[in-house]
Amino acid sequence: MNKVFLLFITFFILSLSPLSAAVYKGQKVFVKKCVKCHEAGQAFIAKKKIKIWKNLMKKKGKPLADLHMKSNKAEKSWNYFESKKYYKDSKHLKQFLVEYAKDSGNVPACD
Ligand code: HEC
Repeated sequence: MNKVFLLFITFFILSLSPLSAAVYKGQKVFVKKCVKCHEAGQAFIAKKKIKIWKNLMKKKGKPLADLHMKSNKAEKSWNYFESKKYYKDSKHLKQFLVEYAKDSGNVPACD
């Protein structure tokens, strides 16, 4: 009985932590890489719906990177968006952005 319970708890923690760890990592990336040009935190993120963030972050964040590569105003971000680091970060960033998207509070999308 005890063992089963322990197993259950372990499984529970294991199934939860990867997500929250990714969200946390994503937040760190966002603060470090995005806030200098965009408004901090939710004000910026909560403008977009989950679907839009997911679209921007698909293919390891390629659409988001492309969008910045096309804009001269975003020149200072080019190094980052071209780097391997970005492609590694993108997974976490996506989790974070989706977590705080406009309709993340399970509000039904009405568009
Ligand atoms: C060097 C400044 C800079 C950095 C760093 C930067 N951006 Fe941007 N970003 C811009 C500019 C400038 C635009 C507007 C591009 C255009 O339309 O000309 C933009 C546009 C966007 C857009 C689409 C515009 C909108 O509001 O719909 C999103 C989404 C976005 N950035 C997210 C991010 C995220 C996430 C990061 C961090 C990984 C980031 N940006 C890092 C400068 C930056």
